[in-house]
Amino acid sequence: MCGIVGYLGHRSASSILLDCLKRLEYRGYDSAGMGLHVEGGIEVLRGAGRLTGLEAKLSSLNGHAAKAQVGIGHTRWATHGKPTEENAHPHVSPDGKIVVVHNGIFENFLELRAELSYAGIVPQSQTDTECFPLMMHLMMRQGIGFEDAFSLTVDRMRGKYALACMHADHPGKILLARSGPTLVVGLGNGEHFVASDVAPLLPHTRTVTFLEDGDIAELTARGLRVLDRTMQHSVRRPSQRIDWDDDAAELDGHPHYMRKETFEQPRALERTIEAYLQAGQVDLGLPALEEAWTQIDRVSILACGTSWHAGLVGKFLIEQLARVSVEVDYASEYRYRAPLATDKTLAIAITQSGETADTIAALSEAKSLGARTLAICNAVGSQVTRIAEGTLITRAGPEIGVASTKAFTTQLAVLTLLGLRLGRARGTLNEAEAAAVGSALAALPGQLQRVLELAPQIEQIAHEFYASHDALYIARGPLYPIALEGALKLKEISYIHAEGYPAGELKHGPIALIDRDMPIIALMPNDAHRERTLSNLQEAAAREGAIIALVAEGDRALDGIASAVIELPDVHPAVAPILYSVPLQLLAYYIAILRGCDVDRPRNLAKSVTVE
Ligand code: AGP
Repeated sequence: MCGIVGYLGHRSASSILLDCLKRLEYRGYDSAGMGLHVEGGIEVLRGAGRLTGLEAKLSSLNGHAAKAQVGIGHTRWATHGKPTEENAHPHVSPDGKIVVVHNGIFENFLELRAELSYAGIVPQSQTDTECFPLMMHLMMRQGIGFEDAFSLTVDRMRGKYALACMHADHPGKILLARSGPTLVVGLGNGEHFVASDVAPLLPHTRTVTFLEDGDIAELTARGLRVLDRTMQHSVRRPSQRIDWDDDAAELDGHPHYMRKETFEQPRALERTIEAYLQAGQVDLGLPALEEAWTQIDRVSILACGTSWHAGLVGKFLIEQLARVSVEVDYASEYRYRAPLATDKTLAIAITQSGETADTIAALSEAKSLGARTLAICNAVGSQVTRIAEGTLITRAGPEIGVASTKAFTTQLAVLTLLGLRLGRARGTLNEAEAAAVGSALAALPGQLQRVLELAPQIEQIAHEFYASHDALYIARGPLYPIALEGALKLKEISYIHAEGYPAGELKHGPIALIDRDMPIIALMPNDAHRERTLSNLQEAAAREGAIIALVAEGDRALDGIASAVIELPDVHPAVAPILYSVPLQLLAYYIAILRGCDVDRPRNLAKSVTVE
């Protein structure tokens, strides 16, 4: 969703901002804009659609804009008003001097518009954001200075926001405010950067400072000064180093980010597992929560979409390894169902972005009810990490493709490690069982590498099924959520209608859909459920369903029954959900490519869903 960038230094702001905006494209957007400090004022460029439009506008300025060394930029995902040029950011005061970009929603914008209209100030757009520069303009017209007008206007706003603001008469300054969405400042050598997440900053600097909720800050050539709401006192915000690879957010020779990120999974898992498992011992590094492992009597997992599927796998793992009851909620539903939570509940938010509004609201609700709180997240410094008592960071690195791949499998690895830690702490898992799961995790990256070598076979299967209109994904036990996830991947990027079901549910309804035009993707590892899944597949085959089966190496039971069989390494049941996810990602990817879809930026979807 919306993304903010800013630059202040000695190089061409327009090209740096454009590059930073490109690195935020993955969040999803439908218009973009930029404000640049140029000789005599601020040049504002905006356009509906992709960044190429903005790029064309920049080049038509004949080098005039290239001289600017300070500027702010924005990608907008429309909420209030259509994705038009008028509604694109930056929004500007009537005298053209105040320029603002915003991520979030001002909930009281109608009330503010009425107030502005009473003062004779008429908005030019349908957005909530425009109230901000107009309100500042009203204040400055009354003689209030730039900084004070900014902080007083921030005080007037209700809702969640990250803001960057410039004034034509203050060319060396960008003002910032945060209440909700992440705003991170990159501190370089004589130049400074602002962005909605760290990905755009990586080519320029690794030293970053995250603003906290309620902060107002001033970025100048001297660096970052964070102030309290009165703008009178400085507040200390530590800087930290980000250790992601230089090329982590680059395509690196792959045609799409989704393909690159799918193939990065062995390394991403290795990094994640190594971070928490050493010499066979799990160390989560969460001293604040250590006593909770034995005190809790319930785990409540809160998440959306793919992360919710990870939560469902987590339920199987944690209940089995730690013998504690786990419920998994859609975060968007949790707050609205009078949830039960106490100080004996461990609420776990799973979110790759750490910015999902529903998940953050659900975790806050659980916390207000007294629950202990933990986040599983891929984004250091994101909102969720500020709410939870402890965070387990997945070491997937930046995930640019909207369809989650490596972020998902690293979430599963972390949930397995959490299950191990809980099981050992609660005495429900003996040393030998824990060691078996630990070894299975350690062996996983190598086995996944072998799974990735099956890509040509999976591409071939995609050729046979890409014209289908529907698909069914089925599995049992902890593989059932992977069937749901496989169906979601296919839906998201190929727009084929797909559903996931527990294999045992087929005969209670969905079997009515089966005919020769309905591909059935079945996950049948060599586990306790294998024989029952096999019976369900015989029933499907009897109705001429075309079966694509994922089985353990050497399993011949579906020869002659399935249209295609993909053989995967025979692994410990605790890690099978991770291993079986990867062929489904590849299948969705190849089908989407054959259908001509934009796999990295599927229609209507955003990577960070920051609105409810
Ligand atoms: C994943 O492929 C999806 N794009 C989507 O379901 C996503 O998992 C969901 O929006 C939750 O995102 P989060 O993990 O960042 O909270």
